[in-house]
Amino acid sequence: MRKTLRFLLGDRLVEIERCDPTLTVLDWLRLDQRMTGTKEGCAEGDCGACTVIVSRLDHGLLRYEAINACIRFLPTLDGCQILTVEHLKGADGSLHPVQQAMVECHGSQCGFCTPGFVMSLLALRLNEAEPDIGRIEDALAGNLCRCTGYEPIIAAGRRMDEIAPRETDRFLLERERVAARLATLSDAETLALRGEGGCFYAPATVSTLADLVAAHPQATLVAGATDVGLWVTKAMKRLDPVIYLGRIETLRAITDEGDHLRFGAMAGHADVRTALAALSPQLDELMRRFGGEQVRNAGTIGGNIANGSPIGDLPPALIALDATLVLASIRHCEERSDEAIQGGHTERFDPAPLGRFASLAMTAEDGLIRRSIPLEDFFMDYRKQDRRPGEFVEAVVVPKLTDGVLFHASKVSKRFDEDISAVCGAFRLMLGSDGRISEARLAYGGMAGIPKRAAAAEAALVGQRWNEAAVGAAIAALPQDFTPLDDMRASAQYRLRIAGNLLRRFLIETTQAQTHTRVAGLLAGAAHG
Ligand SMILES: Cc1cc2nc3c(=O)[nH]c(=O)nc-3n(C[C@H](O)[C@H](O)[C@H](O)COP(=O)(O)OP(=O)(O)OC[C@H]3O[C@@H](n4cnc5c(N)ncnc54)[C@H](O)[C@@H]3O)c2cc1C
Ligand code: FES
Ligand code: FES
Repeated sequence: MRKTLRFLLGDRLVEIERCDPTLTVLDWLRLDQRMTGTKEGCAEGDCGACTVIVSRLDHGLLRYEAINACIRFLPTLDGCQILTVEHLKGADGSLHPVQQAMVECHGSQCGFCTPGFVMSLLALRLNEAEPDIGRIEDALAGNLCRCTGYEPIIAAGRRMDEIAPRETDRFLLERERVAARLATLSDAETLALRGEGGCFYAPATVSTLADLVAAHPQATLVAGATDVGLWVTKAMKRLDPVIYLGRIETLRAITDEGDHLRFGAMAGHADVRTALAALSPQLDELMRRFGGEQVRNAGTIGGNIANGSPIGDLPPALIALDATLVLASIRHCEERSDEAIQGGHTERFDPAPLGRFASLAMTAEDGLIRRSIPLEDFFMDYRKQDRRPGEFVEAVVVPKLTDGVLFHASKVSKRFDEDISAVCGAFRLMLGSDGRISEARLAYGGMAGIPKRAAAAEAALVGQRWNEAAVGAAIAALPQDFTPLDDMRASAQYRLRIAGNLLRRFLIETTQAQTHTRVAGLLAGAAHG
């Protein structure tokens, strides 16, 4: 075990022996290091004022990710480099081209949001050559400004590479040297830290993770911390111990296995988006609207599922695609009854008979038990998931879409970018050779306490031709499936109406190619017409 946290702050190697497991990167920078260039706005990942860049090794190459420092725990950055706005100034005091572009384009007024915008633009510059306006807007969607307005900031995004070509950027010129330094910090030891608030473990292998989860059934597992971070900054929870999954490379893997994709639980949303985009452009759009870039760089597919939120965006899409969840544990957990933490609440664990599992297999090489269940069965009740003591989400297996299958995914939220869904719908229909629907999978988020299929509406579709009459029958059946909540995001009546309208949109999009049903489509139509 290694008991020292190691990372680079700019060029400086930092080694820390005692650290609170949930100390945020932002608090450490501002309060400990007195680096106050990075600002705190919301402390919940929404405004981007705290944006910093984390550089990390990905298959030997340095990858730059803008993240929200306010909800990221410092020990999760072991082996990485942190870049803040303070690192941009040249040795001679000159401004970095991104800063210079902000000045020239009048992109800053109060300056509270400015460091965050600058860091988001820098991450874009380091990652992409010649980003178009759409990419600039995407890269800035996780940053809020309430005085300058976005036009000058977007203009700065277009201007920065004119001021100095990206190939000459100091950070890119140093890329290999930094990668080599980070390589010397990476090892296969488990990081075990102790601090005022408790213990932090970061194993480097799945089997060590399984051992730790078994040994600490009350531990909080942390992936990207885009949910867990808020338990600390908003709900003021103390989490002890914390087990971080981000050092296990195999958990980040996304593999194409012929007729299906396999996502490791730690696959980040940015990579998940790329993989899902190959299945359907609608999944690309769904993921593009998942948080902002900072949230997609940190958040993971495993965290989105394990969190069990009824308004998570991936579960409806993955349920419609008939995904399978793989849960792993070590053997002795399988046999004991214990206290379990589920959805943040302590509950008595009652082992289920093995017979109900879709599949149960012992893998001899690593000694782990693996349980595969249909994803929809994982969600049992509001914030209650079928995760047993000692278990963690290891992977999600997603069948690809085949010929003759119709698919649709839509998210409805108050804001287009960086907003949680009021309703999310994902649908998969199989048509038989007679043109009738042979199988229907209609999954919704925001309609019940869990992401859930609409069984009555599905039954109304099966055997019918895919037309307005079938959709009308399915919509009429939706109240049998759902009694949605009224809350700040939407009323129950609105949710039911939307759930039906999404089905109708699915029909229009699959049967009337010329009809625009999406904002982007309308704009494109206007531009060309
Ligand atoms: C500003 C903002 C915008 C957001 N926008 C969206 C959005 O548009 N759509 C959406 O769906 N969500 C959104 N979220 C919520 C959040 O980003 C997602 O739910 C995200 O996928 C969580 O993943 P994570 O890796 O950060 O999980 P974490 O926060 O690390 O963990 C979440 C939960 O999962 C558990 N967990 C994590 N990994 C595992 C595992 N492998 N095995 C078992 N348990 C595990 C944790 O213990 C915790 O209970 C947003 C959040 C923020 C802050
Ligand atoms: S302070 Fe608002 S996102 Fe971090
Ligand atoms: S200049 Fe961004 S909030 Fe004022």
